[in-house]
Amino acid sequence: MAVYKDDPERLVSAARADDESSFELKLRPRRLQEFIGQEKAKEQLGIALEAAKSRGEALDHVLLFGPPGLGKTTLATIIANELNVGFQQTSGPALQIQGDLTAILTNLRERQVLFLDEIHRLQPVLEEKLYTALEDYKLDIIIGQGPAARTHVMDIKPFTFVAATTRPGLISSPLRSRFGILLRLEFYSDDDLRFVVERSAEVLGVPIDQDGAAEIAMRSRGTPRIANRLLRRVRDYAQVRGTGKIDRATAEHALKMLEVDAHGFDELDRRLLMTIIEKYDGGPVGLNTLAASLAEEEDALEEVYEPFLIQRGFLDRTPRGRVATRLAYEHFGLPLPRRGMLF
Ligand SMILES: Nc1ncnc2c1ncn2[C@@H]1O[C@H](COP(=O)(O)OP(=O)(O)O)[C@@H](O)[C@H]1O
Ligand SMILES: [Mg+2]
Repeated sequence: MAVYKDDPERLVSAARADDESSFELKLRPRRLQEFIGQEKAKEQLGIALEAAKSRGEALDHVLLFGPPGLGKTTLATIIANELNVGFQQTSGPALQIQGDLTAILTNLRERQVLFLDEIHRLQPVLEEKLYTALEDYKLDIIIGQGPAARTHVMDIKPFTFVAATTRPGLISSPLRSRFGILLRLEFYSDDDLRFVVERSAEVLGVPIDQDGAAEIAMRSRGTPRIANRLLRRVRDYAQVRGTGKIDRATAEHALKMLEVDAHGFDELDRRLLMTIIEKYDGGPVGLNTLAASLAEEEDALEEVYEPFLIQRGFLDRTPRGRVATRLAYEHFGLPLPRRGMLF
């Protein structure tokens, strides 16, 4: 039975597409005030920024975590802008050699921001090297080779380390303890996402009304990256098929044509729920069994894919395993199983 269809372009995937970087850059808020939603994280960060600025010190190290597309990289750049300091970016997978990390750390300027994306993919040896740098702004350097080798401790400039991860569960506790500020990003409400769409439309010079923006927001899976991407595609449709202005009807037609469903599910959402429904009679099914069925890692399921489905009420985590809810059956137009027959 194939009631769902793969979206060949993965329009609603939260991962960034290759051709999207320059578009995203244009839409990226530069100041904390322009950053929509995430009130808890924003307040916490705002206070820490104020305090660091008034003391004239480097801001405490910051760990940003949450699903892709919610604004982690954006916040990292905002931190540097608000502190009015330099910004340098690298990532866990990009850093392969100890010497590269040493070079980056020794060339840091006073109080600047060093942003490390995907920190959960940093090699353990490099992680350990970071510890003293983060704690005391010191670096152990080995000079010479063999029996003549000596360790030399080098001072580095006080700096602010900002790291981001979609998988906080993979961060070791010694590393986690080096961060003074932990910011968890949550899925956005439909209202906040509507503001994101309206703001982006303004930046892009696209005429849109509230209902049009709401229609796009609703199908964006709580994720600004997806909201911006859908806006771009709906704009094309409005220009070619409509008057150029995005209202509810235009947005609805465009999104229907693009096959973005009412909840903006992507292929994995559908596969996950359909696996529980078809293979396990709606559940409960244990996380490890489900992960094996989907050929995905357990913690990726738990930290990246499930939170959205749980938050929107399509999936339940119970002590006996994962369960597809009534909403999930309704979404796929399937009859509810008769639960409790066995008892
Ligand atoms: N709070 C926000 N307000 C406005 N736009 C946002 C917000 N958060 C994210 N965006 C937009 O969404 C896109 C993806 O954000 P990004 O910071 O790259 O996400 P992440 O690093 O968490 O994957 C960016 O283009 C950014 O402009
Ligand atoms: Mg990012």
